[in-house]
Amino acid sequence: MTDAAKLSLGSKQLDYPVMSGTIGPDVIDIRKLYAQTDAFTYDPGFTSTASCQSTLTYIDGDQGVLLHRGYPIGELAEQSSFMEVSYLLLNGELPSKQELENFSTTITRHTMVHEQLATFFRGFRRDAHPMAILCGVVGALSAFYHDSTDIHDPAQRVIASHRLIAKMPTIAAMAYKYSVGQPFLYPDNSLSYTGNFLRMTFGVPAEPYIVNPVIEKALDRIFILHADHEQNASTSTVRLAGSSGANPFACIAAGIACLWGPAHGGANEAALNMLREIGTPDRIPEYIARAKDKNDPFRLMGFGHRVYKNYDPRATVMQKTVREVFAELKVTDPLFDVALQLEEIALNDPYFVEKKLFPNVDFYSGVILSAIGFPTSMFTVLFALARTVGWVAQWNEMITDPDQKIGRPRQLYTGPTQRSYVPVTER
Ligand code: CMC
Repeated sequence: MTDAAKLSLGSKQLDYPVMSGTIGPDVIDIRKLYAQTDAFTYDPGFTSTASCQSTLTYIDGDQGVLLHRGYPIGELAEQSSFMEVSYLLLNGELPSKQELENFSTTITRHTMVHEQLATFFRGFRRDAHPMAILCGVVGALSAFYHDSTDIHDPAQRVIASHRLIAKMPTIAAMAYKYSVGQPFLYPDNSLSYTGNFLRMTFGVPAEPYIVNPVIEKALDRIFILHADHEQNASTSTVRLAGSSGANPFACIAAGIACLWGPAHGGANEAALNMLREIGTPDRIPEYIARAKDKNDPFRLMGFGHRVYKNYDPRATVMQKTVREVFAELKVTDPLFDVALQLEEIALNDPYFVEKKLFPNVDFYSGVILSAIGFPTSMFTVLFALARTVGWVAQWNEMITDPDQKIGRPRQLYTGPTQRSYVPVTER
């Protein structure tokens, strides 16, 4: 590409620098555009806008490639662990054996939550959606951990990051326990990050809980698949909230709120609900027809992606994991067959082919999580738990980025022009 983009606007001829990353499309640096032309760019949904520089995650949507710090997601999912990927995302390099041990120990030591937080939970209705609880409780952490909210102190940023990653499974498990009326379980430091979460969720104080290593590995892999995903809606929300100087707990709560929506993290819950509604393979054509109907708001949940115009590499790993979990638990789920057939039909349908709509990470995750025993309302909570490391790593990157400014988009105003107020008696 050239080193400058030329813009001609009215009588003005302007050059804008072109920046290159290590891989991926070049970007045109338009920061001076408004000052020089008195015009903004218009890009709702940021389809053509790079909001920051980042070294964490790279996606090639056409090829279906996802790299974290350069490492392909398939290799990480197959060979790494969620703790190691967390270290990688936070620090930029894979840890040595000792560094990994130290990091895991540090995270483990932060898993307990302030005892008073349990009281906070009791303010929620028992039938509250766990995402509502998660959003509220994580936001409230800033009221419990005052010693790690100074964003200008690097040491406090590290502690806040570790606290968020460590406490998220505890809070997520508490949200579940609260909804089923069982007592909260304290973390067990002898277990892995994921094993501990399984025990806090499914264990009871009355008897020992034995972690199934196959399920532990499968869930750990699901966490890896969700750990980070470039500048998606919730990550951008975390960055935008953080750009004002808000504390990290408040920023992550903002990310959780954004993730909840069915077009984003809420799609895993919506996808399983959709499969349940379809129920049997013979009803698939009806739902395919609805998804294609412009007058019907229905979409195939777990299908399509803003960036991937190819098979989501995370969906490939997810589909394989379904089979592993089913084999271990000696279960089958007719909904998995519905999902497989739905995928097959959609991938051969001209509508989906032309629009390049493929299964995404959420298409198969619900089937696995349900087999493990999670209710659908917990699916997005698990996504949030895993994505916390990505949010935290991106937030840290933003704070130390010299180009960072408060995020403040502009607009194309289409409302009334100035007019005079008319008293109510004269209207
Ligand atoms: N079913 C049917 N049609 C679809 C679907 C779908 N799932 N997704 C996109 N389309 C159509 C859409 O109607 C549009 O058609 P047209 O050009 O004729 O108007 C075209 O494809 C492009 O869609 P878009 O909404 O402009 O694309 P987008 O990049 O804004 O949306 C998306 C991406 C993920 C929100 C969308 O594909 C979607 O709603 N999918 C279902 C929800 C889902 O699975 N979300 C999880 C995403 S992966 C996990 C995560 O990031 O959280």
